[in-house]
Amino acid sequence: MLTIDFNRLNLTGWYPGHMLKAGRDMQERLKLVDAVVELLDARIPSTSRNPALRKLMEHKPRFVVFNKADLVGQDYARAWTDFLRSRGERALFLDALHGTNVHRLLPEMKQLVDAARKRRGATQPLLRPIRLMIVGIPNIGKSTLVNRLVTTKRAAVGPRPGVTRNQQWIRLNNGMDLLDTPGVLWPKIANKTAELKLALVGSIKDELVGEELLGEFLWDQLRIHAGAVAWDLYDLAECPETPDELFEAIGRRRGLLRAGGVVDRRQSAVLLLKDYREGRLGRLPLEPVPADECPPAGE
Ligand code: G4P
Repeated sequence: MLTIDFNRLNLTGWYPGHMLKAGRDMQERLKLVDAVVELLDARIPSTSRNPALRKLMEHKPRFVVFNKADLVGQDYARAWTDFLRSRGERALFLDALHGTNVHRLLPEMKQLVDAARKRRGATQPLLRPIRLMIVGIPNIGKSTLVNRLVTTKRAAVGPRPGVTRNQQWIRLNNGMDLLDTPGVLWPKIANKTAELKLALVGSIKDELVGEELLGEFLWDQLRIHAGAVAWDLYDLAECPETPDELFEAIGRRRGLLRAGGVVDRRQSAVLLLKDYREGRLGRLPLEPVPADECPPAGE
């Protein structure tokens, strides 16, 4: 079986300074909110989880939300939800793009905050709006989700008591306040596979990795799912044995040819990535549901 050397990937020095700052600010921001929505990508639940946040959020009520549920199967979503429930974590799969299950999020958050306050012995109702924060990697779908949670246009709310003036708050449609935070990745990603998975879901830019290498990685991932992939999209009956055969088939089928009738490898890879990301190759999660272990936090 062909193995590809993904160590060719070198992301040294790619980590943007604004992300470093946003990551550092996270600790301070966490103090301002009552609960956190940990937004993960349903295709890579383990890798999209920020390992640094685990410790920081230890004592903060948090709710795990898997976005882009339309890109994985329902059985997969159910298995993950059951797994997390068995570990005492609450979770919800939703699809912010089409709105599926979005209506369940804020009532769940209210329940979570109420239960946490009760545990701390609070007897009076909270006299201010519940404050939330959504944390997640770039391109996770946070803006899409937030736009579904606000009735009017993202109305910024004035400064909250005890809260820095320049923090941006958004009033949600059930009266809760959301602290607006950017999507962040962490500076040291565990390994090349994790980096490539994050690039595959659009969290690390394609051009940093290179579309061809990313396409090869996707071919490698698709081999695992071989039976479930819609290969007929490229007039193929099964998974080709090499990424080159796959790029060749895509290029011929879609007319991605350079001078002399040679298939444009990069264009074919770009198209493969697009088809995967838009769900045309099927509902294909990239990580298994853990059997009996806590989900590794992308380490
Ligand atoms: P962000 O704020 O976290 O960075 O993410 P944003 O909402 O901008 O969404 C990133 C991309 O993911 C968008 O695609 C958006 O439509 C898509 N998206 C968000 N939620 C879902 C979902 O539940 N399912 C699916 N299938 N897609 C979702 P885009 O406009 O094509 O942008 P890009 O990926 O080309 O950057």
